Formats: sequence, structure tokens, C-alpha cells
Amino acid sequence: MDAIANPFSPGAGSKPPELVGRDAILDDANILLGRTRAHRSAKNMILIGLRGVGKTVLLNELQRRADKSGCCSLLEEARENQSLAQLLAPALRKVLLQLSPTAHVSDAVRCGLQVLRNFIGTFRVQMGDVSVAMNLAPLTGQADSGDLEADLPDLFIAVANAAASCNTVVVVMVDEIQYLSENELAALLVALHKVQQQGLPLALIAAGLPVLPAMAGEAKSYAERLLVFPEVGPLNEAETARALGEPARAAGAEFKHEAMELIYQQTQGYPYFVQEWGSAAWNIASGSVITLDDVNRASELVRGALDRNFFRVRFDRLTDSEKRFLEAMAASPISPVRTGQVAEKLKVRVSNLGPARAALINKGMIYSPAHGELAFTVPLFGEFILRHASDGAHARRTRL
Ligand SMILES: Nc1ncnc2c1ncn2[C@@H]1O[C@H](COP(=O)(O)OP(=O)(O)OP(=O)(O)O)[C@@H](O)[C@H]1O
Ligand SMILES: [Mg+2]
Repeated sequence: MDAIANPFSPGAGSKPPELVGRDAILDDANILLGRTRAHRSAKNMILIGLRGVGKTVLLNELQRRADKSGCCSLLEEARENQSLAQLLAPALRKVLLQLSPTAHVSDAVRCGLQVLRNFIGTFRVQMGDVSVAMNLAPLTGQADSGDLEADLPDLFIAVANAAASCNTVVVVMVDEIQYLSENELAALLVALHKVQQQGLPLALIAAGLPVLPAMAGEAKSYAERLLVFPEVGPLNEAETARALGEPARAAGAEFKHEAMELIYQQTQGYPYFVQEWGSAAWNIASGSVITLDDVNRASELVRGALDRNFFRVRFDRLTDSEKRFLEAMAASPISPVRTGQVAEKLKVRVSNLGPARAALINKGMIYSPAHGELAFTVPLFGEFILRHASDGAHARRTRL
């Protein structure tokens, strides 16, 4: 069918034609913001899920809804080599300026800008050409100690007071939050804790890999009382059918039931893969009905393309010992895998696995859902490794 009219959207953060299976999270976020606006206590949210399940898409939708309901939001993506101060300060400047669009600036907003100016100076945040509150009197003793755990709470409280003075809620949204260091995560938790104790209207909605509950618990013991970790998972079979069927119908086409069943089998309901399969099947179909045969042909194309690009790119970044580690994980029929099983398969002691394990966690390939357990961060990665383990082993033998 016409590729230009193809409704599917495989990609990173690309809005799906139909956002299915996320109603409970959307409702919970609505309650969080409603309670925050009413100065009632509510747990902040960190969405957790594997690569490609739709965390970014969901954050974008949550931001759209938050702004529509009159909140003032910022959405930033954390990166490995960027500090939390650098990530948040320019975005909070925008929020504060948004709270004072007219010449009349409330005292609380003015104070927010003064505290932000201190914070920027203290943490040497690069602001490009813009200046912050240069014409305001200095304010000492706020966000100027150099200790992030003391200064970030000052800044959040000042911003939240500014929001309260404008009868709104500031929503701090951070994607890929697993890239924060332990210190930064601890400072963020202290800041949220202080804001909550004072009943101020500022909330955090973030997203990251499933290591987050453990990371947050290690950073601050009270993390589980401040946060909830809604799981963004694969779609079930009925949801997968809706994610495929609704957009097709809206574009004047339809999937045969057995065609959708096969896509569910192949993708296990992982949203990114559902979009890839839907898109390829659409392009291959010759008429407006997408058949089992179309999906069979699409599967060959998509699997080949994913193996060559999506999976291979990640795998080729690894050292030989990291690859052997992942092959041993993939050989296990159940996930998560116990570290002891990997050691047994590789015929080494568990303590010898430390460096490869740490490097794979650092590279975002695996995570530890619980003590002594390991799992892949990318869905279907184990299957890819099993398909290609023999090629790799052969190549390594030839190199030796
Ligand atoms: N609820 C959904 N229904 C259907 N498709 C979806 C849904 N959520 C996301 N998608 C599709 O899945 C793909 C991945 O989405 P997204 O980039 O948001 O995932 P992610 O979890 O942020 O991945 P990563 O961890 O790699 O950043 C996109 O192509 C998007 O259109
Ligand atoms: Mg994402």
C-alpha cells in the first residue's frame, strides 16, 4: 500500500497513531497533578520500562495533558555526561519566566529567579548568552553552599513558591533518569521531600530503565515513600490488535485476524516492534486487506533489518568477553538470569564476572532487577544473540 499514507510510526519517541494500554498511568498522573495543585500530598512518579516500550512517548503525552490543564512543565532528557544542575537550571529559568509573562512579577517569582541565579553561579551552569535576574538585588544563603543536597532543595522550594503564587503546578519531567549519579538522585529526592513537607505545588514525573527502584532506594531510604514506579510494559494481545487495527481502519485498511496474531507472536507486544511490523506489513500489502502472507513477508524483512541495525549496532559495541557474558545469559530459558548461572555456563567464579557485568550495566545492555539477578534492557535481545551466537563464535575462533 501507499507508503506515504502508512500510519505506523516506528522510531524513538515518535508519537504512535494510537496510544494503547496506558490509561491507568495517564489516570494516575492526573490524580498526582490534581492533588499537587490542591496542596495535598501525592507520590511522584518514575515510569520504568525496557528500551522501546514507549516511556518517552508517554512522557510527551503527559506533558501535553499537564500543560493543557494549566500546569507549567519542563521536560528534559538526562545524558551520561551532563550534570543535573546543567540539565535543570536553563529549563527552570524558562519555567520562572513563563510564570511572569507580564511586566508585573510577583515577589515569589522574583525570589525564584534570585535563588536560580545563585544556583547557576554555584554550580557553574553554562547559560549561553542569557542572563538571569541580573537587575535584582543579591540574595545570600540560598542555593549557594556548593552542596547539591542542600542547594537543589532551596531551588525547588523557591520555584514551587513561585508556582503557588501563580496558582499553578510546576511539573519537572526527566527522561532517561537512570543517567543521574547517585549524588544527584539523592539531591533530587531530598528536594522533593522538602517540597512535599511544605505542601508546595511541584511534582516530578520521570522515566527510565527498571534499575530505578533499586537506584532510588540506595540513594535515599525513604525513596519508596516519595515515589511510585509505574511499569510501562509490553502490550497484551488485545492491545496489540488495537495498536494495529485502529490506525489501519482510520486509514481505510484492515488487518486479517491471523495477521495480527502473527505480529503479536513475533513482537511479544513490544510497542517499538509492533510499529515496525505494522509499518512493513502495510507497505508490503497490495490491497487494503493486510493478510497473513503479507505479515510473513514483513517478518523476514523486519527481522533482517533489526538484526543488521538495531541489535547488531548494540552488539558490535561490546568486547569479546562481554559478548560471551551475554551469550551465556541468552542461553538461559528463563529471565531474569542468576549471576551464578552465567558463571557456571562460562565455567568461571562469580567474582570473576564483576568487570564484564559492570561494563554491560554501564553500557545500558543489562540491569539487575534484584540482588544476584540480571536481565536484558532491550526486549528480544536474547533471541537475537541465540540466532547469531554461532556466527560470533565462528568469527572469534577464526580470529584466534
Ligand atoms: N502505547 C503504545 N502503543 C503503540 N505504540 C507505541 C506505544 N508507546 C510507544 N509506541 C511506539 O513504540 C516506539 C518506542 O517508543 P519510545 O521511544 O517512547 O520508547 P522508550 O521506552 O522511550 O524507548 P527508549 O528506552 O529506547 O528510549 C515508538 O515507535 C512509538 O511510536
Ligand atoms: Mg525513550
